[in-house]
Amino acid sequence: MTFEFDGEKYKRASDQQKAWGKGVICELELSGHERILDLGCGDGVLTAELAKHVPDGFVLGIDASENMIATARKDHAGANLRFERQDINTMGFGSEFDVVFSNATLHWIKDHKRLLRNVFESLKDRGIVRFQFASDGNCSNLLRIVRDVMSESPYIDAFREFDWPWYMPTCREYQTLVDEVPFTETKVWCTNADRYFESSEAMTRWIDQPSLVPFLGWIAESDRQGFRDAVVERMIDETQQDDGTCFETFRRINVWARK
Ligand SMILES: C[S@@+](CC[C@H](N)C(=O)[O-])C[C@H]1O[C@@H](n2cnc3c(N)ncnc32)[C@H](O)[C@@H]1O
Repeated sequence: MTFEFDGEKYKRASDQQKAWGKGVICELELSGHERILDLGCGDGVLTAELAKHVPDGFVLGIDASENMIATARKDHAGANLRFERQDINTMGFGSEFDVVFSNATLHWIKDHKRLLRNVFESLKDRGIVRFQFASDGNCSNLLRIVRDVMSESPYIDAFREFDWPWYMPTCREYQTLVDEVPFTETKVWCTNADRYFESSEAMTRWIDQPSLVPFLGWIAESDRQGFRDAVVERMIDETQQDDGTCFETFRRINVWARK
C-alpha cells in the first residue's frame, strides 16, 4: 500500500527528518564516486545532499508519491541526480549500487523480508546499506490517541477493514531479519530522538503531514475534519508543557550492513 503526500507541506513540516538524515549522511564516509539509491526520497532534500557528496557518482531517489517526486524534481536538479516514481515494495535493481540509503521511510514498508532481499540484490559486492527509520516506541502519544479516536463514534465503522500502515520493530526483531540475508557484516542499533516541538502549531504541521495521511482516506469526507481536529486537540491536551512546547517520543532503528 502506498499513499499520496503533499510535497510542499512536507517541506515545511520535516525539519526533524532532515536533521536526522543529514546526520546519517555525514557518517557515510563517501569517497565521491559512489552510486547511491535513496529509498523513499520524499521532497528530495536528502537525495540532493547525497549528490553533493558524490560529484563523480550518481544518486537515484525513488518514491511512490507523485506529488513528492514532482516537488523533488522542481527543487533539485543535477547531472548526477535523478528522481523516479517507484514503489519500494516492487523495486527490482540488480547489483547497481554502492550504497542503499533510506531515512524516515521504511516504517511505511510492511514486508521487510522482501525489502532486505531486494536491497541485497540491488547492491554491488561490498556495497553498504544504511537505513534509519521508526522503531518500537516511536510516537507513543500520537499512536495511542489515533487508535482511541479510531475506535470511537462516528469513525469506528470506517476503520473495520483498516490495515495499520506502519511497521516499527524492536532492534532484536530487526537484527533477526537482517541475519537471514547473506550480508558479510551487519549492525542494528536504536537511538532516542525524543523531541519537544517548539509550539502546538509546529506539532500540528507534523500531525497533518505526513502522520494523518494514511487515515483520512478511510473516513467519509464530511467526517475528516472532525477526526483530524479530535487527534490534534487531544495531542495538544496531553503533550503540551507549561512553556508551550509539545513533547513526543521519536525512537529510531539504525541499520548498517555490507554485502
Ligand atoms: C517521511 S517521508 C521521508 C522522506 C525523506 N526520506 C526525508 O527523510 O525527508 C516518507 C516517504 O516515503 C515514501 N514512501 C512510503 N512508502 C513508500 C513505498 N512503498 N515506495 C516508495 N516510497 C514510499 C513516501 O511517499 C514519503 O515520501
